[in-house]
Amino acid sequence: MTGASPIPAAGAPALETRGLVAGYEPDLPIVRGVDLSVASGELLVLLGPNGAGKSTLVKAIAGVVPIHAGTVSIGGRDITALPAHRKIGAGLAFVPQTENIFATLSIQENLQIAAAVLPKARRAERIAAMYAQFPDLAVKPARLAGSLSGGQRQMLAIARALMVDPPVLILDEPSAGLSPKIVADVFSMLTEINRAGVTVVLVEQNVKAALAIASRAIILVEGRIGHEGAAQDLLDDPILARLYLGTGQAMEARRP
Ligand SMILES: Nc1ncnc2c1ncn2[C@@H]1O[C@H](COP(=O)(O)OP(=O)(O)O)[C@@H](O)[C@H]1O
Ligand SMILES: [Mg+2]
Repeated sequence: MTGASPIPAAGAPALETRGLVAGYEPDLPIVRGVDLSVASGELLVLLGPNGAGKSTLVKAIAGVVPIHAGTVSIGGRDITALPAHRKIGAGLAFVPQTENIFATLSIQENLQIAAAVLPKARRAERIAAMYAQFPDLAVKPARLAGSLSGGQRQMLAIARALMVDPPVLILDEPSAGLSPKIVADVFSMLTEINRAGVTVVLVEQNVKAALAIASRAIILVEGRIGHEGAAQDLLDDPILARLYLGTGQAMEARRP
């Protein structure tokens, strides 16, 4: 099975960008006009060569890179102008590629900080829910996050993002630096999260593994969408993959 149904749910997309232009300097757009529409319940993978602007795109959506033009909306609500922390409140959770946990704090403290945006009455219940979902984290909550393995850190980062029970979860290369076995664990957790109803946008370099869990794929090339289609079609078409991913070899060779 390859993730969620490709049939879009009725109503507004879970996440949508229109004509999105974004970048670090006002006169230097990196994302150059992206129209992205992610239906509720989808698991979309965002691929593309290094430097294509994948991280810049998801950071702009999350509100941590300036948007020059265009709009971002969640469930039909325009959130373009909201600061990053209010985008979380509007339902958009983002796991950046780096610095996604506080290494000098404990697991419990990391979760408490993530829970601080919730009403007081809900915090303990949500932290308990995260320990139930990520049993590895519950073993020793006082352990320093910086002492965790790469896979456990990624699980903690994902748990922090899920604390607010977001409808949309965006992750930037959660598999970076992990061994194939741990990548499989992280991806199976993402599949589970998606099946529980969270719309997932996954930026990945682990092309084959990501396509195997995604319903749809978008390939970003030089800040624009170069290809968009069913994940399975891309998996089955090495020519397409070579063309758009610029690997110069079959995808099998991209396994870590
Ligand atoms: N903090 C930054 N300041 C200025 N330019 C940046 C910054 N981060 C990335 N870039 C530039 O933006 C372009 C796209 O980078 P990025 O979004 O990280 O690509 P990808 O994630 O697809 O590898 C690259 O040319 C990169 O040099
Ligand atoms: Mg990147």
